[in-house]
Amino acid sequence: MDTKKKSSFSGSIGFVLSAAGSAVGVGNIWRFPYLAAKDGGGLFLIIYLLLVLTFGFTLLTTDVAIGRKTKQNALKAFGVINRKWKFLGYLTFLVPALIMTYYSVIGGWVTKYIVTYLTARGADAARDGYFTAFITSKVSPIFFMLAFLAATAFIVYRGVEKGIEKFSKIIMPGLIFMIVGIALFSLTLKYTDADGVIRTGLQGLGVYIIPNLDGITGKRFLEILLDAMSQLFFSLSVSMGIMITYGSYVKKDVDLNRSLSQIEFFDTGVAFLAGMMIIPAVFVFSGTEGMASGPSLMFVSLPKVFDAMGRAGSLIGLVFFIMVAFAALTSCISIMETLVANCMELFHTSRQKMSLIIGLIFAGAAAVICMGYNLLYFELPLPNGQTAQLLDLMDYISNSFLMPFISLLTCIFVGWVIGPSWIDEEMELNGTVFKRKKMYAFMIRYVTPVMMTVLFLQSAGIFTV
Ligand code: PFF
Repeated sequence: MDTKKKSSFSGSIGFVLSAAGSAVGVGNIWRFPYLAAKDGGGLFLIIYLLLVLTFGFTLLTTDVAIGRKTKQNALKAFGVINRKWKFLGYLTFLVPALIMTYYSVIGGWVTKYIVTYLTARGADAARDGYFTAFITSKVSPIFFMLAFLAATAFIVYRGVEKGIEKFSKIIMPGLIFMIVGIALFSLTLKYTDADGVIRTGLQGLGVYIIPNLDGITGKRFLEILLDAMSQLFFSLSVSMGIMITYGSYVKKDVDLNRSLSQIEFFDTGVAFLAGMMIIPAVFVFSGTEGMASGPSLMFVSLPKVFDAMGRAGSLIGLVFFIMVAFAALTSCISIMETLVANCMELFHTSRQKMSLIIGLIFAGAAAVICMGYNLLYFELPLPNGQTAQLLDLMDYISNSFLMPFISLLTCIFVGWVIGPSWIDEEMELNGTVFKRKKMYAFMIRYVTPVMMTVLFLQSAGIFTV
């Protein structure tokens, strides 16, 4: 049974907004601003932008073109093109399966914070230890994860056009509206600290966008480059089969050149705006030291910032977490859709049945990840020198280890086995011009494989910057 034929996006806008929905997620909102603050502000922004236009464009084009040309999910796509490369489809399938286990847990944390702000307990969220007490508790994180997962499964259950596309078309413009609103509000902030120092939002904007070249050595530059590179993968949702699946739903008359540029623009624009919203706010209320990394930025530092804003802070906090929940939901939907679509093909089952089964399996897996903060707590040293508990371990295996490896293999496959002209044909369907054709060929054959090797060796701890 060919279950794939029935699913497609209605047109270009549906595709762009759904793919942008996948790309825009917690990666844009908590990881990008933190990296920008840590890695030299404007310097990071320039490097990231250059990487989006080169590596990001190359990897996104590859995934979407493979999907649309083969009309297959990742699991089958590689094998359909060349039987010997079937294994790459299976390898690619592993990434969303691993990410799904923890992305829904984080979605649950965000849902919990919405409830906290809705019930006017924003001040509690600002208290020291609130977040730790929540994630280490036994029942509450599982409960909120299940609520988030149920919402995800419901939309996937409804299908591509009626579920994913319809939802993304409403949510994505709303998200932009909220993020622009909070970013502008951030710029108007002003605060006098206990030492009488006045800090303003505009000064915070300077910290964000002015390139800071202090202490930039060759080694430090490489470090920033690698940070930006791994952020790019995660942020654009590339090399994990997701964009192959979404590509397979795109109709042949859609101009991929234009759509892909719009997705790149959307994802990078939201990341930039997230920085504009978060960095000035954190700077005004806690100075440059306030930029915590990872979850603590969003769940510990920001609630303190909202609290310091006074009455408006509770409302801003609520809007902020609703926005993050939307962003996380459209990303989680894309991960689940990829799993469901692949399994529908593999087991010849209906979407409805598969959404329920996958939903139940991942509810169990995500519950185990929640337990990584209590019953199953450990601290495992990683090859790259960091330590990880269960959630970080999944993140490390999927993003730091598998993604560069899969990208490397994909580049070898497209650049050297089937040749870049295979992709050119798809990009030039209906007489459209593939403007970045030469750059694409050069990137996929030479530059990207080298960069992926460096990134992979660094994550595996074989090479340290
Ligand atoms: N791109 C999303 C983000 O930036 O948060 C995260 C993501 C979505 C990662 C889908 C992986 C994925 F398969």
